[in-house]
Amino acid sequence: MNLSTFTTPSELSHYLQSHRSQAMGFVPTMGALHLGHQSLIDRARRENAMVVVSIFVNPLQFAPHEDLDRYPRQLEIDRVICETAGVDALFLPTAESMGIKDGLTQIIPPTTMMAGLCGRTRRGHFQGVATIVTKLLNIVRPDRAYFGQKDAQQLAIIRRIVTDLNFPVEVIGCPTLRAESGLALSSRNQYLTPTGRSQAAVIYRSLQQAHKLAAQGERSQQSILAAVKNELSTVPEFDLEYLELVDPQTLESIEKLDRPALLAIAGRIENTRLIDNVLIGC
Ligand code: PAF
Repeated sequence: MNLSTFTTPSELSHYLQSHRSQAMGFVPTMGALHLGHQSLIDRARRENAMVVVSIFVNPLQFAPHEDLDRYPRQLEIDRVICETAGVDALFLPTAESMGIKDGLTQIIPPTTMMAGLCGRTRRGHFQGVATIVTKLLNIVRPDRAYFGQKDAQQLAIIRRIVTDLNFPVEVIGCPTLRAESGLALSSRNQYLTPTGRSQAAVIYRSLQQAHKLAAQGERSQQSILAAVKNELSTVPEFDLEYLELVDPQTLESIEKLDRPALLAIAGRIENTRLIDNVLIGC
C-alpha cells in the first residue's frame, strides 16, 4: 500500500475509519527518524495489518530554554524512511491542527513518577508528553503503540496513564538501538561532533560496568553507582546530570538490588543532553 499523508486529526480519522477492522500499530515520533525509530516501525509492521506513524515536534514538552527551535527536522528524509518501511499512514499535524493553545486541558501523570530522573530538571516535560500522547492515542485509536526503552521514564509514565485512564491500547516497549560504540541512538546525536560521539560512548560503558557488577552479585546501590561514576570520570568532558537506580515501573528509588532495577543516567557532552539506561539485577 502507498504512504498516505495527513495533516489534520479529522482527515486522519476519516481515512482510518475504513481500516478499523484491521489490527493497527502506531509509532508516535518527533521525526529526525533513525534506526531506533525504524526498529519500532518494523516491529509495528510485523505485528499489525496497518501502521500509522506520527511526526510532531511537540511544543508542550519543551521548556522555554530548551531546543524546540533547533530540534532536528528532516521531513523529506523521514517520509522516504516511512515509505520504505511500509508505513500506511503518516500523520504530520501542525500545532494549530493539534489544538495546542493557552489554557489547553492537560494530563498530569503521578507526581511520584515525575519527581526524579529527567523530571527533576525538565519541569512540565512529562505533562507535555502525557498530554500529546493522550491526544494522539485518541485520534489514532491504535491496538498497539510502540515506544523506545531509551526513554524509560516516558515509557513507564505512558504505561501508567494507559492503565489509569483505561485506554484500549497495548503499550509495547522496544529495546534501545546502539551505535557500534554503544552510544544509544537518538535524534540529538546529530548535534555531536565525531569527538563528542566517541566521548559519549562512556555512558553505555559505565552502565555496562554496573550490569557486570550486579551479575557478579553486588547488591548495594552505593557500590553500583560508585562504579558507574568511576568509569564516567575517565571522560571529564561528560557533565553528569543524574545517575539513579529506580524501580522500572514506579520509578521509586531502590536502595538494595533485591529485584530488577532500572539504572538511568543523563548528562551532557558538548552541551548536548544525552540519556541512557539499562535494566540490572534480572
Ligand atoms: O519520544 C518521543 O519522540 C516523544 O516524546 C513522543 C512520545 C512522540 C511524544 O511527543
